[in-house]
Amino acid sequence: MKDNIFALMQNIDLQKLNETVAFIQTKTDLKPYAGIILGSGLGGLVDDLTVSCSLPYEEIPNFPVSTVKGHGGKLLFGMLNGKPVVMLSGRFHYYEGYTMQEVTFPVRVMKMLGAEVLMLSNAAGGMNKNFKVGDLMIINDHINLFPEHPLRGRNDETMGPRFPDMTEPYDLDFVKRAKALAVKHDILVHEGVYIGLQGPTFETKAEYRFLHVIGGDTVGMSTVPENIVARHMGMKVFGMSVVTDLGIREEMNEITHEEVLEAANAAAPKMALLFKELLGEI
Ligand code: HPA
Repeated sequence: MKDNIFALMQNIDLQKLNETVAFIQTKTDLKPYAGIILGSGLGGLVDDLTVSCSLPYEEIPNFPVSTVKGHGGKLLFGMLNGKPVVMLSGRFHYYEGYTMQEVTFPVRVMKMLGAEVLMLSNAAGGMNKNFKVGDLMIINDHINLFPEHPLRGRNDETMGPRFPDMTEPYDLDFVKRAKALAVKHDILVHEGVYIGLQGPTFETKAEYRFLHVIGGDTVGMSTVPENIVARHMGMKVFGMSVVTDLGIREEMNEITHEEVLEAANAAAPKMALLFKELLGEI
């Protein structure tokens, strides 16, 4: 049809979303309060979840499928510290070749299932001079340097506004509460700005310098697209970075993915504790 030839790309495929949500609701009647997406090496929180339903991505209509071998991703439903949650075990990254719509599809599904809150974590490079490998940072803002925007395309006003406000991308009450919980449990946390870019290369020295100068404290290849879509749909977001390597001039070393995973694994229990405790409070 002529109309279709000239139709603009939509940023949301509502029909697909409805189909996916309807399928999931035939498998579980748990209505999640929060959606949780964990970063590389930070999956340990899954062990604390009392799982009531586990759906492999391949079985969910319209769901993207993980590319990482041996990481058959799953959508998990269950209780975490007394709250019903949905957890994405295996995140979708833009650098893997997914479109922004695919990267953020699970966030829309989570919201349509009832989630009011989204909790995100990531492994990230640290640029702030006070940061050390293994430190945690509560994200209080971000800078979006991805080359494509998840909301580009014709907007569906029933989902969210054409021009979403981004003055509080990370809920400041959550930030305050998480900081207080960290003090209570004697966990060192920083607070700062995450810069999201596409990867998959780690940054050059000049890029790290640039990212620090423009206001970044950590840098990574995720989180920002999911945050944007969650905010578009009116979800409140909490996010945390685990510093897995440093992009500070004097301390910068070569990095490998294995080192990133190792550092993330070591810090994961502290992060998991803060996520659980915060979830219990909000
Ligand atoms: N840069 C980008 N992504 C990352 C880094 C980094 O230094 N560390 C872990 N993920």
